[in-house]
Amino acid sequence: MIEQAAGENEDDARRDLRGVAGQIAGGVALVTTIAEGGEPHATTASAFLTVSSDPPLVAVFFANATRMHAFLRESGSFSVSVLRRGQHEIARRFARPGRPTGWIALSGLSIVHRDPRPPILADALAWLDCSVVQLVPMGDHGCFVAEVLAFDRVPEGEPLLYYRGRFHTLGGPAAPASWAPLERSDLAAEW
Ligand SMILES: Cc1cc2nc3c(=O)[nH]c(=O)nc-3n(C[C@H](O)[C@H](O)[C@H](O)COP(=O)(O)O)c2cc1C
Repeated sequence: MIEQAAGENEDDARRDLRGVAGQIAGGVALVTTIAEGGEPHATTASAFLTVSSDPPLVAVFFANATRMHAFLRESGSFSVSVLRRGQHEIARRFARPGRPTGWIALSGLSIVHRDPRPPILADALAWLDCSVVQLVPMGDHGCFVAEVLAFDRVPEGEPLLYYRGRFHTLGGPAAPASWAPLERSDLAAEW
């Protein structure tokens, strides 16, 4: 039960919680899976976490009402293409409810076909192939915990971010982290 301010009803409390969630900036990914019949399905997701390095585990969270939730339960595997700056049209396109599914839905995109693995975006910032090891029901969402089977990344390029219901790009570093290697530009900056 959500703790509510005096006089606030539950709908208001849910809306307020969505507002709080919107304050958390995150990356955006295109999750792909192969549905029954061998056709792919792709859905925009920002609830994606790397969880464990040994064994290598990630988690994605899909609303119970999404088609991706049903497809992942069937297929047990998915791929993640991490979107880069400028790919907000892709993010919008694959968030639209009721859009086409299958290969036709991917038309016009630069795709890497890797049958029988799910397709990935050719110009993704990073990609991972994952095999679901656990589905944890969480209220109106399901958490799909998955083992990472393969992955790669391009070292250059910037991520697409989602924050307060809008797509953003990185504004630049705020300070170096003591545990990360210093770069030349860190030394010149006035932190
Ligand atoms: C930036 C962004 C991130 C999203 N992240 C998620 C997410 O992590 N999980 C989820 O269930 N829906 C998420 N959505 C909403 C789904 O993309 C949307 O409900 C979609 O229509 C579901 O498609 P499907 O039913 O074909 O799977 C996100 C939407 C946007 C715009």
